[in-house]
Amino acid sequence: MPLQDTVAAALPSWATLMAALILMASVLAYVVRLNLRLRHSKRVLEGEIAERRRAEERLADNEQRLRQIIASEPECVKLQTLDGILLEMNPAGLRLVEAGQPEEIVGTSVYRVIAPEFRAAYQALSEKVFQGESGILEFQIISLKGRRRWMETHAVPLTDARGQVVALLGITRDITARKRAEDEVRLHYRELAHAARVNTMGEMASGLAHELNQPLAAIANYSRGCLRRLRAGKDSADELARAFEQVCSQADRAGDIIRSLRRFVRKDEAPPRPVDLADVLREALLIAEPEASQHQVRIATEVVAGMAPVPGDAIQIEQVILNLARNAVEAMDEVDAGRRLLRIRVFPDANGVATVEVGDSGPGLPGDMLNPIFEPFFTTKANGMGMGLAICRSIVEAHGGTLGVRPNETGPGLVFRFNLPGMEETFDHE
Ligand SMILES: Nc1ncnc2c1ncn2[C@@H]1O[C@H](COP(=O)(O)OP(=O)(O)OP(=O)(O)O)[C@@H](O)[C@H]1O
Ligand SMILES: [Mg+2]
Repeated sequence: MPLQDTVAAALPSWATLMAALILMASVLAYVVRLNLRLRHSKRVLEGEIAERRRAEERLADNEQRLRQIIASEPECVKLQTLDGILLEMNPAGLRLVEAGQPEEIVGTSVYRVIAPEFRAAYQALSEKVFQGESGILEFQIISLKGRRRWMETHAVPLTDARGQVVALLGITRDITARKRAEDEVRLHYRELAHAARVNTMGEMASGLAHELNQPLAAIANYSRGCLRRLRAGKDSADELARAFEQVCSQADRAGDIIRSLRRFVRKDEAPPRPVDLADVLREALLIAEPEASQHQVRIATEVVAGMAPVPGDAIQIEQVILNLARNAVEAMDEVDAGRRLLRIRVFPDANGVATVEVGDSGPGLPGDMLNPIFEPFFTTKANGMGMGLAICRSIVEAHGGTLGVRPNETGPGLVFRFNLPGMEETFDHE
């Protein structure tokens, strides 16, 4: 084969050359596009990085501002874990617990400074907060220097982005001054209540003689009776024993009266007990009935069933009923025997407050006498002390109630009425 033909055969054809050129051009275009896309991505990435940096700066600014606010906050601000480890505490908090440096308290247990008797309550509050609830607690701390102070904490859950409680955020303030003021007010009330009682004590002292008159007279009577029987030598031992039982029960009663009077004036009085007025009336009648029958007085009682017990002192309430009943019996001496009726009613008034009425069919009193009869030592009786009604009013008022009198609406005579409010109304200030 001639040389030219051999060279011609070895050279690529025009078509192959064109195809190669086209391939190179498209590769070049791809590289250019890739380059452009990369440059774009780089710009986006740089933008994102700058945005992120700005966000981080804003976050750091916010945190710094928040820290400054918390640091300058006059109340104690703290963060703690469920088991009481303190994560953060601001300077006001450090001052409250008397820590010189944060390390003295941060990272240790908050229970170190909570007074032992309040630890359980504080633990309960922490558990509540970690269950997602907020709470308030008043408690005492013993500072790192050993000083006791009253605190009030408002605790709220601090949650992360997923809503998980990560810490207890507590804002605590020192309420020692407020607590001291409250104590003073309470003490003042107690002093006042005591002073009021001691005032009536002067009257009560004379009243003691009044209240003990009846059981002492009964003891003297029964004892004299026993002596007579013994001297006559006629009665059996059984009959004598019965008379002596009366002596004993009257002596017990005199003791009860003295004890109840002591409770009345004692400063640290025992809490009132629930008193069933139906029972009290039954007891009072055991004493009032023999006296009434001696004076030929009939007794009618009316008790609304199922009344709630009232807080108070049963013996004192019984004395009120007895004094009113005794006055009524004595007043009815002035009217015909057949018309002597003593009415005692126990019922709830329109507001549901337990009420007792003692009415008689005696001569009554003129209107201008209805107030003075409650004054101590006011009496129209030759042998009266004028203490019965004053004692009744003191006792009723000490039970938070009122005692008053009005003319009988359905006939001659007077109706005395007193009420005994329930627990809340009576002992709000105690
Ligand atoms: N039911 C009544 N009817 C009429 N007057 C009454 C009645 N109850 C009380 N009084 C009048 O009120 C006065 C004062 O009563 P109070 O019980 O305080 O004293 P007192 O009965 O006179 O003496 P005491 O101290 O011995 O009870 C009586 O003297 C009497 O004048
Ligand atoms: Mg009297």
